[in-house]
Amino acid sequence: MKHEIIEKNAGLLGVLVAIVISVGGLVEIVPLAFTAEVTQPAPGIEPYTALQLEGRDIYIREGCYNCHSQMVRPLRGETERYGHYSLAGESVYDRPFQFGSKRTGPDLARVGGRYSDQWHRLHLINPRELVPESNMPGYPWLEGAALDPAGTPAKLRVLRTLGTPYTDAQIATASADVAGRTEMDALIAYLQMLGMASRQWK
Ligand code: HEC
Repeated sequence: MKHEIIEKNAGLLGVLVAIVISVGGLVEIVPLAFTAEVTQPAPGIEPYTALQLEGRDIYIREGCYNCHSQMVRPLRGETERYGHYSLAGESVYDRPFQFGSKRTGPDLARVGGRYSDQWHRLHLINPRELVPESNMPGYPWLEGAALDPAGTPAKLRVLRTLGTPYTDAQIATASADVAGRTEMDALIAYLQMLGMASRQWK
């Protein structure tokens, strides 16, 4: 029996299993790359402003994703708590995306506009000031750290190479947009835009 040959030969079985899984994977993954729902921005999703982009980099640098996801699942308990479930088209300008998988703290995909800038400032300096039982670390140094405007235009240019539709004007004013601002300002600008577009979705 041909079957027996395969079943008694682990190497051959392994190769055939790899081929079958590869074909299955391709059939699932390749069409996604051509689906507008996944590759085009969802309604209201715009490229990050220079300041928001710097804030996103700080979010990544500080490892906020280790405790916070940005992925509202399409389940009632999630949408009641956070808002509209996450859409693929929300992440088209995210390189890399910040879905995360660990929720020591709440999901942040819809946190924009939920609190004032001042709330975020105090909370990031010392979370226990506002939420006594919080085990989130403080990030007080962000307040005193000035952004370096010299590198910002290059970040926008690289993203444009990858497909984010930044205009020449946005790149030209990128340095001025972040000049004189702190890392705290940038991180708050980023947090405050998260999920704002989803408010118009039904
Ligand atoms: C060790 C885990 C941990 C890390 C790291 C962490 N957080 Fe948190 N975060 C929490 C927990 C727990 C809460 C809930 C209690 C509270 O509000 O402080 C929270 C709450 C929040 C909230 C309020 C969310 C809401 O809907 O009420 C924001 C905003 C936030 N974190 C932002 C950040 C940012 C930005 C960073 C990175 C600079 C960060 N967190 C890093 C654990 C963490």
